[in-house]
Amino acid sequence: MDMSIILAAGEGTRMKSNIPKVLHKICGKPMLEYIVDNSKEAGIDKNYIVIGHGGERVRDAFSHKDVVFKNQPIGPEYPYGTGFAVMQAIEHIEDDSNVVILCGDTPLITSKTIKELIESHIKNENFATVLTAYLKDPTGYGRIVRDEEGNLEKIVEHKDANEKEKNIKEINSGIYCFKGRELKYALNKIDDDNAQGELYITDVISILKQEGYRVGAYLIEDATEIYGVNSRVQLAFCEKIMRERINRYHMENGVTIIDPYNTYIEAEVKIGRDTIIYPGAILKGKTTIGNDCIIGENTRIEDSSIGNGVEIFSSTIEESTVSDNCYIGPYAHLRPNSRLGQNIKIGNFVEVKNSSIGDNSKAAHLAYIGDADVGKNVNVGCGVVFVNYDGRTKHRTIVEDNAFIGSNSNLIAPVKVKKWGYVAAGSTITHEVEESSLAIARAKQVNKIGWVEKKNF
Ligand code: UD1
Ligand code: CA
Repeated sequence: MDMSIILAAGEGTRMKSNIPKVLHKICGKPMLEYIVDNSKEAGIDKNYIVIGHGGERVRDAFSHKDVVFKNQPIGPEYPYGTGFAVMQAIEHIEDDSNVVILCGDTPLITSKTIKELIESHIKNENFATVLTAYLKDPTGYGRIVRDEEGNLEKIVEHKDANEKEKNIKEINSGIYCFKGRELKYALNKIDDDNAQGELYITDVISILKQEGYRVGAYLIEDATEIYGVNSRVQLAFCEKIMRERINRYHMENGVTIIDPYNTYIEAEVKIGRDTIIYPGAILKGKTTIGNDCIIGENTRIEDSSIGNGVEIFSSTIEESTVSDNCYIGPYAHLRPNSRLGQNIKIGNFVEVKNSSIGDNSKAAHLAYIGDADVGKNVNVGCGVVFVNYDGRTKHRTIVEDNAFIGSNSNLIAPVKVKKWGYVAAGSTITHEVEESSLAIARAKQVNKIGWVEKKNF
């Protein structure tokens, strides 16, 4: 049975953050979640995460995931290092299992590579296989030292390397596959006799090698997969690569992205075929977008569900539902719990909040629809305000099917406009409007003849 041990106890000092490093997000998803998901996708169903610094927060953030947490004790009285981290899960290591070691701070590693690492490990009958890559600038990484025949000999940390070793460009990714029995055996032999005074997992390799066990390296071509995040600069770099991957995935599935370098789609977003996305779109969280939509420039959609054939321009949509063939924007704002039926128009500078709107209704310009249930075929004129707040509490407004709300009216909630009700422009409505009737609630116009002449303006 394959298992993984994911190392995530380090402090991440260089992030200069109050948040544990592995919880920092890349394209909307915590780094560690990529590792867990990809490990599972590679067929590893037992995943142990070693936590330490900020461990409780990591545990809370992953309470919904099927993983087991192991606490690495942290403090001056305890050893430190990747070897000590792996030891925290030693009781779970079965003799005959393949144990994959992953790092919580290398979010770009793919399930395909993890799978290939395990396959190479099995095929070569290794006891340890290291995932390696060539880097133009290997500074900071452990170097892969090979003998004259090119066989893996040992891994030397940057801080422990001599000048010759520092010139080696093949580096240790920090990802390995071990045979359970031999990993446990060698873990008991590592010591902290090195520049950092830490227990290094990398020493397991040289110990096994010296004792005649077969060890090997699996070299990946795409070195970006093993990039680690130790700083905010590296976080942004990994975000860029992940963004390119996500955008490519959608394009390969039939979505047109006009400018993939200026389109920000988070990891969990789903998009249907023939949808076109313009620059500056930011699609976040658990958002779903249907087929044949146009997501126009500078549109932010978060945790929302958008139907088919919807067009949205320069607008913001949060935690809302939009059904087929709606037209939104430019400059509209759907705040949480807005539910739009089909074929609705929400136009310039219209804000909707915690409201439902029925099919074929329109609010084309400058309106606020808050805490309302609006029926079908309703016209909300320019400048209409649903006055939902009395300074203490919010109240609801009901506008039934086929009603017409004239421009610049106020509907003072709680209030109802019944079917086919017609509110005259400029009215302030405080009482129910009867079915099929006209409500006028404004001062009558008076014309004072000759007033201007008399004033001598
Ligand atoms: C490690 C490798 C190095 C490799 C590099 C790849 C060792 C000794 N070195 O170095 O060869 O090139 O990764 O990125 O293994 N962690 C714990 N507990 C600890 C220490 C670390 O859980 O006591 C975790 C960290 O949270 C991190 C991972 O292990 O996720 C790697 O630790 P880090 O200190 O970043 O190792 P590197 O110096 O990068
Ligand atoms: Ca690291």
